[in-house]
Amino acid sequence: MSILYRSRFNADTIGSVMIEIGDLLEGRVDNKRQLLNAVRELADNSLYHSGEGGGWCSVETIDNQLAITVQDRGEGIHQSLRRLYADIDERQALRFAFGGGVSVTGDPVRGLGLKLVLDYTQKGATLLLETGGVAFVGIDGKGQVIGKSTQRVEGVVATLCLPFPCC
Ligand SMILES: Nc1ncnc2c1ncn2[C@@H]1O[C@H](COP(=O)(O)OP(=O)(O)O)[C@@H](O)[C@H]1O
Ligand SMILES: [Mg+2]
Repeated sequence: MSILYRSRFNADTIGSVMIEIGDLLEGRVDNKRQLLNAVRELADNSLYHSGEGGGWCSVETIDNQLAITVQDRGEGIHQSLRRLYADIDERQALRFAFGGGVSVTGDPVRGLGLKLVLDYTQKGATLLLETGGVAFVGIDGKGQVIGKSTQRVEGVVATLCLPFPCC
């Protein structure tokens, strides 16, 4: 494994972080724009929903895979969506969050960000998002909630993995 990039971000720095990651990936991945769009959606969620105002982003190579991770140590998806659905459990919260059209903001045109990230996996990437005691795996545009045997994850950790044969 080698770490190509790691940086904190907040609302002031996310623009430059995205430019640096874009430069790093130039000529090395297909569908770069869609990938960056998915990463930005995840980062925006850390900025606006975590309660922490930001997080970390890293780019690593692991075997022949490129892994881009966006992480925050905020309240997590379950706590956030409990504002809308008081009785929701952790698994339901993830299903709602990825189903499209559910946003803690209550804005009817919001709530499509994580669905867009899942859609991006149709391009050959895989997604693993962990929050609280559950995880969501997305492959080929389809996703499912899985239980986790590891310890609870504070906030949200989302990793997009894609083949990275080059360089
Ligand atoms: N990093 C995060 N921390 C806390 N809650 C989150 C995070 N990411 C997503 N969520 C929850 O999942 C919901 C759906 O996210 P998303 O599909 O990106 O829609 P939107 O950002 O437009 O609300 C958010 O409204 C929020 O409740
Ligand atoms: Mg969003």
